[in-house]
Amino acid sequence: MSDAPSPKRKRVVVCRGQYCNMGRRADKVLKRLEVLVDDINGDQYPKPVKLEIANCLSMCGAGPNLVIYPEGAVFNGVDETQLDAIVRDHLLLTDND
Ligand code: FES
Repeated sequence: MSDAPSPKRKRVVVCRGQYCNMGRRADKVLKRLEVLVDDINGDQYPKPVKLEIANCLSMCGAGPNLVIYPEGAVFNGVDETQLDAIVRDHLLLTDND
């Protein structure tokens, strides 16, 4: 078995910088996203989705911001109510991904 990363793996980067997290809004996004990502990952190893925190993604005025890699999909003004749709459309992996 190869140690190379699976091409299906995704990385979600949530900004928790001072602008994105004003009023703890990025914390709310992160808290909900942790639950959704845990549901996707389950007991799989390596985990198909990796959740990371950034201190700034250089688009502060549009925050809260998150980016999904490898596609580089950028989401601005994110709140926790949008996360189910983002996860469904970008993180639920199919055999075609
Ligand atoms: S603080 Fe979030 S992009 Fe700068």
